[in-house]
Amino acid sequence: MEPCTFVIFGATGNLARNKLLPALYHLEQAGRLPGGTALVGVGRREWSDEQWREEVTAGLRERLRGEPDPVALEALLRRVRFFRGDLDQPDTFTRLRETLEHDPDLPRNVVFYMAIRPADFAPVSHALGTAGLSRDGEGWRRLVVEKPFGYDLESAQSLERHLHRDFDEEQIYRIDHYLGKGTVQNILVFRFANLMLEPLWNRNYIDHVQITHSESVGVGGRADYYDGAGALRDMIQSHLLQMLTLVAMEPPACLDAESLRDEKVKVLKSIRPIAPGAVHAQAFRAQYAAGQLNGDRLPGYLEEESVPAGSTTETFAALKLYIDNWRWRNVPFFLRTGKRMARDSSVVSIRFKHPPQQLFRETPIDRLKPNWILMSIQPHECLRMELQVKEPGLELRTHTTTLDASYCQAGSADLDAYEALLLDVIEGDRSLFLRYDEVRWAWNVVDPVLKVWSVERDYIHTYPSGSWGPPEANRLFDRDDQYWRSTIEPDE
Ligand code: BG6
Repeated sequence: MEPCTFVIFGATGNLARNKLLPALYHLEQAGRLPGGTALVGVGRREWSDEQWREEVTAGLRERLRGEPDPVALEALLRRVRFFRGDLDQPDTFTRLRETLEHDPDLPRNVVFYMAIRPADFAPVSHALGTAGLSRDGEGWRRLVVEKPFGYDLESAQSLERHLHRDFDEEQIYRIDHYLGKGTVQNILVFRFANLMLEPLWNRNYIDHVQITHSESVGVGGRADYYDGAGALRDMIQSHLLQMLTLVAMEPPACLDAESLRDEKVKVLKSIRPIAPGAVHAQAFRAQYAAGQLNGDRLPGYLEEESVPAGSTTETFAALKLYIDNWRWRNVPFFLRTGKRMARDSSVVSIRFKHPPQQLFRETPIDRLKPNWILMSIQPHECLRMELQVKEPGLELRTHTTTLDASYCQAGSADLDAYEALLLDVIEGDRSLFLRYDEVRWAWNVVDPVLKVWSVERDYIHTYPSGSWGPPEANRLFDRDDQYWRSTIEPDE
């Protein structure tokens, strides 16, 4: 692997501190950063290299909840330097070019990572182009664009046009960090490396699919961004729809970037558009109010720092979607996400239909459980199947038992999806990054809901912090025996 200069715009921000620098540290520790690779943090502050090194160290201590490994830390800090620059000033980019082109310690291959406000993506990419930094020269140039990619379909299209003024498609890496998570990738392995599942993986046997992402944390210090976004844009348009594509897609011809992305796009294109009149039946939103978690009082969304008074931004969103293709017609896909919920958990739950004949009639009807496949992404990486067996004893009663895949274990708090994805950028592998048509079709799914919600801003349901969301979210279900599956624990 060739060394590169990894330039982080927004070096002093949350994303760099919480995700990028810890991921680079882990790659260093694992010996995966190519020798000679350098890290250049770009920020407004008047910091020296030494001051930024101190910041990096402090950030790592906080994130790792302890002392970093001294050898890896030392090696990482040797790569690190700070570049002071205001992104509004063209001079920043000409100075940056001089540094990148003439400093003998900086490899000529360059990754530009936009860990900045979404509003700055287009101006910064254009400033790079104007300064002559966007085209491959002595080395390659790559641009990593964080989510949200646009605010709606129209702004995503405009951002796309702006990026292409200066960068070619092969240079653009649109990141969705969920695609770097182990279990998310395991969805593909589970589906396509096991013959026994494929015959069942369709409308004939599957009753419905649920994808839940719940977080116990609130909006934290991110209200400036979050209040303008809301849960539907923040999680569903990106991460949850990406997971849905992996659950629903057809087997790709091979695992190269284009084949994989072609199949994901087909799924997104097949999602039945939600008509304005169906938004009430297929979408639900709510906002967290004050509540309690583990005995602590938690503030409501409106009490959080920087949240505008009277905001009706949703912190909980749920959708019911249908994929109108041969495999999935009329199978509902329920997507749900929320902040300040009872637990941190990301789970894909596949619910099977009941067997066509009920042989075990003496079993009380409410105890007849269908099969489930549960794929837990976090906090445990786990794959579990729920099956019915005979209860021990003289009676012929059924009982739910679980089959756990052997790797069920608490995910390592240290490892995050960013490690895998940053390495892919350095290696030039775009398979786990989004092609623009995926982003566009994902906006197409949520846009009609956003439009209706934007004109109904006077009222929003609430739920107590620390709960599983409001009971009204159950209105998305069609039948009494459908219910939200929140965790991988058996619900008996
Ligand atoms: C981000 C969202 O993309 O994903 C956050 O902007 C959310 O609001 C986060 O908390 C969840 O990611 P993870 O990896 O912590 O589950």
